[in-house]
Amino acid sequence: MSDSQTFPPGAAYARGQYCAIADATLSVLDWGLLRSDATYDVAHCIDGRFFRLDAHLDRFYASAEKLRLDIPVAKADCAEIMRECVRRGGVGEAGYVECLITRGLSPTFSRDPRDAVPTFIVFAVPLGFILPRDRWDEGLHVHISGIRRIPPESVDPTAKNYHWHDLVQGLYAAYDAGAENVVLTDPAENICEGPGFNVFAVKDGRVLTPDRGVLRGISRDTALRLAAELGHETVEAPLPTATFRAADEAFITSTAGGIMPIARADDRPIGDGRPGPVTRALRDLYWEKHRDPAWTTPV
Ligand SMILES: Cc1ncc(COP(=O)(O)O)c(C=O)c1O
Repeated sequence: MSDSQTFPPGAAYARGQYCAIADATLSVLDWGLLRSDATYDVAHCIDGRFFRLDAHLDRFYASAEKLRLDIPVAKADCAEIMRECVRRGGVGEAGYVECLITRGLSPTFSRDPRDAVPTFIVFAVPLGFILPRDRWDEGLHVHISGIRRIPPESVDPTAKNYHWHDLVQGLYAAYDAGAENVVLTDPAENICEGPGFNVFAVKDGRVLTPDRGVLRGISRDTALRLAAELGHETVEAPLPTATFRAADEAFITSTAGGIMPIARADDRPIGDGRPGPVTRALRDLYWEKHRDPAWTTPV
């Protein structure tokens, strides 16, 4: 019997049925666990509206196709399951809604992935922010790690995945260095991404973000569009660590909190060490769009 008291509020859909979060479980033989062979996507809803739901669904289905995983429901049905998990879980005010598909397990425990039957799970829980709202005027302190993000030649970062050893070990390195989060780099010392977020720098009014070795974050795409709307030149290109450290401003983007400022990188401030005007304008516009029917759909 499940003890839902020990789980966050929310609701899930697993094995073709709605259930408590505590009952949305995976077999120990599932390749999602044994091989990290899975993909997922996360959308958020705020005040009863999903933000860019179609973009998240499109990316989820595209990721699954890249990994040769067949999602057992149509996109419209997946959207309806996400809505129902939010309603049942009572998290419409601020919800974190994840859909995932794993390779599953083969009835004979064969080593051939084609024999496996995929596992499809959706869950909705309260939305958490990478940088809590009460620290938005302060900004994040990141460590720029020598740990290299898994190269895109090995694992396609545009298929959202659970290959997080580099990111999690990077977090531990950041804690050891007295920082609170981490940004990983590539072998040429370019900035890549962090655990659950993309990275941006602002220099002389230009908005810069890496174009390679990163997830095409939906929030990244939103930030690029909003920067253009505000009249900034946007540049998707390799972002050398030295350029990042010398930026006027820097910020991260994620479904888990939107556009959040970076104040320090290792022992040095970014700019004057406070969230800058471009970051603040982008953040405000980002949240404004959460009330705009062109960017949102009702739960
Ligand atoms: C590795 C990685 N990069 C970037 C992101 C940000 O993507 P999005 O803006 O779609 O949430 C995520 C989100 O989980 C991620 O896992």
